[in-house]
Amino acid sequence: MSITVLRIGHRPERDHRITTHVALVSRAFGADSISIWEKDEKIKKSIDSVCKRWGGNFSVHFETYKQAFKKFEGISVHLTMYGIPFENKIEEIKDIVFKNNSNLMIVIGAEKVPKDIYEMSDYNLSVTNQPHSEISALTLFLDRLYSGKEIKKEFKNAKLKIIPCEKGKNIITGESEK
Ligand SMILES: C[S@@+](CC[C@H](N)C(=O)[O-])C[C@H]1O[C@@H](n2cnc3c(N)ncnc32)[C@H](O)[C@@H]1O
Repeated sequence: MSITVLRIGHRPERDHRITTHVALVSRAFGADSISIWEKDEKIKKSIDSVCKRWGGNFSVHFETYKQAFKKFEGISVHLTMYGIPFENKIEEIKDIVFKNNSNLMIVIGAEKVPKDIYEMSDYNLSVTNQPHSEISALTLFLDRLYSGKEIKKEFKNAKLKIIPCEKGKNIITGESEK
């Protein structure tokens, strides 16, 4: 079972920062990879660098949404404010993913998404029916999917680790960072 985020609508000159944040949220909240429809090597470089220092096996890929859907085996969930409330379907999706061991592809847009996404996706789900952001929709969806447990996720082979403290910063640095 693996969880991938398909980020459509990315335009390198305009969306660099927000797509980087989408990738960081995907990694931090338990996805295994992100596919971005437009090549942007700068994002890959910065996310690869985060993974090297902060651990885990998160990966960044580039492919069109048609390529992504064609090769994907599992269930796809498109997050859209026009969809069915996600809280009505989340238990069903959890069963498919965790009990049936199915791969999951979470599709999020930037501006208007191509019409066929609504047909190609197995589920079109809303995180409230108000317009907001792909980052908040993705975060809430992943958090509910994992029932909040991803918050405690430990990342393997991390060179950096934060020791939470009341004030200031406390970071443990691994051998290879010295
Ligand atoms: C800035 S919004 C674009 C909204 C746009 N009007 C549309 O046609 O979907 C960018 C992305 O955020 C996500 N998003 C925004 N609001 C959402 C909501 N209420 N529920 C689920 N996803 C949402 C969707 O994935 C959307 O493609």
